[in-house]
Parts: sequence; structure tokens; C-alpha cells
Amino acid sequence: MSNLRVMIFAGGVLAAGIALAGAGAAAPVGNAAAGASLFDQRCKVCHVIGEGQKGVLAPNLRGVVGRRAASTAFAYSPALKASGLTWTPAHLSQFLTAPMKMVPGTRMVVSIPDPHQRADVIAYLATLK
Ligand code: HEC
Repeated sequence: MSNLRVMIFAGGVLAAGIALAGAGAAAPVGNAAAGASLFDQRCKVCHVIGEGQKGVLAPNLRGVVGRRAASTAFAYSPALKASGLTWTPAHLSQFLTAPMKMVPGTRMVVSIPDPHQRADVIAYLATLK
């Protein structure tokens, strides 16, 4: 099980390397429509996105792109509150690669190892204004 995870993670890193080499630039360009269905499958079980909706299990992600970390009405972990992060697409990508590596002590434990899927989800989050 953990070997499989390591392999998936290594595959993700390899794919990211290839994408970087190919594009000669930053992260792959995301597809918001694909990101919406990934969000429904992997994020919606905890996160809400309704305007003004209070997150109970997890913070509301509407407007998260460009927002300061841990800045909504949600009972965040002390670790995320102290992180001082702003959710730029690059920071979101790093966080979603391995949340507990970027912010040790965070209660957000779900990662998206595949760089293309990550870019898709971030592109979708950017549409939630
Ligand atoms: C099992 C429940 C759960 C799932 C599933 C989940 N999250 Fe989270 N997420 C959380 C919790 C809890 C937090 C708050 C973490 C903390 O306080 O340290 C969080 C925090 C976040 C934050 C920071 C928000 C802020 O206001 O600072 C982002 C971004 C995020 N999650 C994205 C995602 C994405 C994208 C997915 C789907 C791939 C996802 N999460 C899936 C529980 C979840």
C-alpha cells in the first residue's frame, strides 16, 4: 500500500519533470471543466463552495485562489493559521502535492499526485469567484 503510494508519487514527479521540460515554463495549464469533476469526486465530500456558506468539515473554497490561508470562518488547525501563506496557484499546487509536507500539522490530508489533475482542479478553483 505505502509502496504503491510512493510509486504513484514518483510517477507524478516524473510527469511533472516531463511537463516542465516540454513546456519550458511553469506548471501544466489546467482544464477547469475536468477540474470540476475531479473536485466533485475528491473534494466535495468535505469542502463547500456556496457563496457565504459556512464550512463545517472543511473551509469554503469559493475565492480561495489569491486568498490568505486560514482566513474564512472555519476552525482551522493552528499549523495552517500560522503558515502565513497566500494561496497563489503555485502555493496551491505545492500544498495539493503533499499538504502535510508543506504545512506540517495541517488537518487537510488529501493530495493530488498527478500534476495535470492538480492543474485542472486549481483552474476550476480559480473560476469560483
Ligand atoms: C477529508 C476531508 C477533506 C477532503 C476530502 C479535502 N479537504 Fe481540503 N481541507 C480539509 C480541512 C479539514 C482543511 C483545513 C485544514 C487545516 O485547518 O489545517 C482543508 C483545507 C484546504 C485548503 C486551504 C483552505 C484555506 O481556507 O486556507 C485547500 C486549498 C484545500 N483544502 C483544498 C482541497 C482540495 C482541492 C481537495 C480535493 C482534492 C480537498 N481539499 C479535499 C479537509 C478536506
